[in-house]
Amino acid sequence: MKSAIHRDTWLEIDITAIQSNIKNIKKYYAKEKHVFAVVKADAYHHGAVAVAQAALIAGVHGLCVSNLDEGIELREAGIQAPILVVGKIAPHYLAVAQKYMLQVTVSDWQWLEQALAYSGKPVQVHLKYDSGMNRLGVKTHEEMQKLLMTLSNHESFEIVGLFTHFATSDDSDETAMREQYTKFIALLDTIGMNFQYIHASNSYGTIRLADDERTNSVRLGILMYGCADEPLDLPFTLQPAMGLYSRLLEVKQVRAGEKVGYGFTYTCTEDGYIGIVPIGYADGWWRKNQGRYVFIQGYMCEIIGRICMDQLMVRLPKLFAVMSLVELFGPHIPIQTVAKELGTISYEVMCGIDMRVPKVFKNTTEK
Ligand SMILES: Cc1ncc(COP(=O)(O)O)c(C=O)c1O
Repeated sequence: MKSAIHRDTWLEIDITAIQSNIKNIKKYYAKEKHVFAVVKADAYHHGAVAVAQAALIAGVHGLCVSNLDEGIELREAGIQAPILVVGKIAPHYLAVAQKYMLQVTVSDWQWLEQALAYSGKPVQVHLKYDSGMNRLGVKTHEEMQKLLMTLSNHESFEIVGLFTHFATSDDSDETAMREQYTKFIALLDTIGMNFQYIHASNSYGTIRLADDERTNSVRLGILMYGCADEPLDLPFTLQPAMGLYSRLLEVKQVRAGEKVGYGFTYTCTEDGYIGIVPIGYADGWWRKNQGRYVFIQGYMCEIIGRICMDQLMVRLPKLFAVMSLVELFGPHIPIQTVAKELGTISYEVMCGIDMRVPKVFKNTTEK
């Protein structure tokens, strides 16, 4: 594996892990469905172009991004698969969506009234129904039918999809998710039309609604990246794709009673060694990680003292060589553990790593 360019702190992205997760999820839970890989936010910070290319090779049908710029990045990298912008674009950018063949979300009437001024080549759209989350989407069958009728009579739009989004699919109590699903199916029954893409499920929905025959597509995010913050009983092992690593920059001896870091918040209780690691809150390794652990040479080593902008200090159990590998999360410290200890979810930890941390791709694309 190549190390990072000029600083020994890097994200390792295992591309074949992503491909293996996709293949297994498709095989066990979405055999008959179009899988859209959700690669918004730089593929949850795994690298949008690399992940999109690998996901397509692994058999996904299309991609989801959150805004036009993310879609344009994929098109400029030569990706030709269907790309849906699941966020809302400003109506005056419809020509841009058309130019880059990006499918857009239509989620309210006010937006559509402005969008009707668009008279270019047809833009493909997915209509969004709000089945209960109170985020994007129209809330009634009447509003949806009004959108449908208006768009069907407008030659600059082509309706290709209808979708909704679940708020609680990761909850082991499936009641609320199933209520949303039932509302979505009732809408489908009212409309009585077929669409190229009908989709409701994100990752957990895909697993929990594997027997659903009314939708024909799913939008797969976090499980593709190999992370499950909530327990899932799967017939295969999810493979986490992201690891965060650094190396010991300096190792020094300390005496009992010496203090460490800004504000002297840590006092050494015994003589020993500490290590300095070149990662800090400017890299997305927040000060809240103080007191947590990193993994070095088989030992869990406590992060001591305040985390600085670019560096942190760890207590070492013995003298380690400078340049020893430091795992912040990876095979020995799952990202879900980091997330739980920080009171958040793995999505936020991965997306929170700063862009200045380079990505090193491991096991690149299997053909
Ligand atoms: C509209 C939409 N669909 C699908 C997803 C993928 O969700 P997950 O990562 O939980 O699979 C997201 C992610 O936030 C989303 O906003």
